[in-house]
Amino acid sequence: LSSMSAHKPKVYVTRRIPESALRLLTSRYLVTQWDSDEPVPGAELMKNVPGIDALFCLLTDQITFEVLKAAGSSLKVLATMSVGYDHIDLEACKTLGIPIGYTPDVLTDATAELTVTLLLATSRRIVEGVTAAREGTWSTWKPMWMCGRTLLNSTVGIVGLGRIGFGVAKRLLPFGPTAILYSGHTPKDSAAEVGAIFVTFDELLQQSDFVIATCPMNSETVGLFNKAAFMKMKKTAIFINTSRGGVVNQDDLYEALKSGEIAGAGLDVTVPEPLPTDNKLFTLSNCVIVPHIGSATIDTRTNMAEITARNIIAVLEGETMPCPLKF
Ligand code: DGY
Repeated sequence: LSSMSAHKPKVYVTRRIPESALRLLTSRYLVTQWDSDEPVPGAELMKNVPGIDALFCLLTDQITFEVLKAAGSSLKVLATMSVGYDHIDLEACKTLGIPIGYTPDVLTDATAELTVTLLLATSRRIVEGVTAAREGTWSTWKPMWMCGRTLLNSTVGIVGLGRIGFGVAKRLLPFGPTAILYSGHTPKDSAAEVGAIFVTFDELLQQSDFVIATCPMNSETVGLFNKAAFMKMKKTAIFINTSRGGVVNQDDLYEALKSGEIAGAGLDVTVPEPLPTDNKLFTLSNCVIVPHIGSATIDTRTNMAEITARNIIAVLEGETMPCPLKF
């Protein structure tokens, strides 16, 4: 057994993951796992990567040049259980010639659904309403109480009409918005299918009743939603972010929400995560924060983990990855 196992590729898995995905790997390879629901500490990761053939990582792991270097020349593939890859040093992967696998598509529907959920929860003041009902501040039916905003006849602005942004547009159409605008690098062919109109970022901010961030975080989008951006939005605008916390300047968002520069915000992502409970954003009744649950359905997370495993298997078996990242 020992002589056989000496030839088995080694895989390091940085977290407890769905059983079916782990089995795909353990049935073939020597798997070492950080068997916890909490992220692997950096030092522990560094200790475990030398000599591995494949690394199964999560968005909570910072995959730096140091980590890749520590893994050494045996490392043949890096597979992240996420569609986002802002936690990975792409340049380092390029330099070291390490292919990356990720998990697009399988989480599009779940994330688009959560984006719509968060939008409605924010615009219809669900958290405030639930709190009022529970805490007894619901005195009676009042004409002006707990009034929110409707999607009907609204202008929706989607920053980043990629897979998830398109999924959001498709789901919002039946609510009857007057217009769906989107901004990004270039117009998208898919936009016609949902009647979305390509505009500049500034036009989108100025015209939208709902501003939805579904763009990836990169050097162009980091801090994109700052004071200047919030100032351009309508005072009645609702801002939704299911992308990455880093696309928002949170101090500026706080000021915008506090001063009434915008009407509300729904965030699935923050900096840091978890957001400390004493963060000032939690003091605002017009800010709804959920804990990065865009892709959190059992099926989606199982699919994400299995694709990550299959990306690893493909490379180790000399085949094409089902979901390679092009970078
Ligand atoms: C991702 O995959 O990047 C999401 O943030 C979590 O599913």
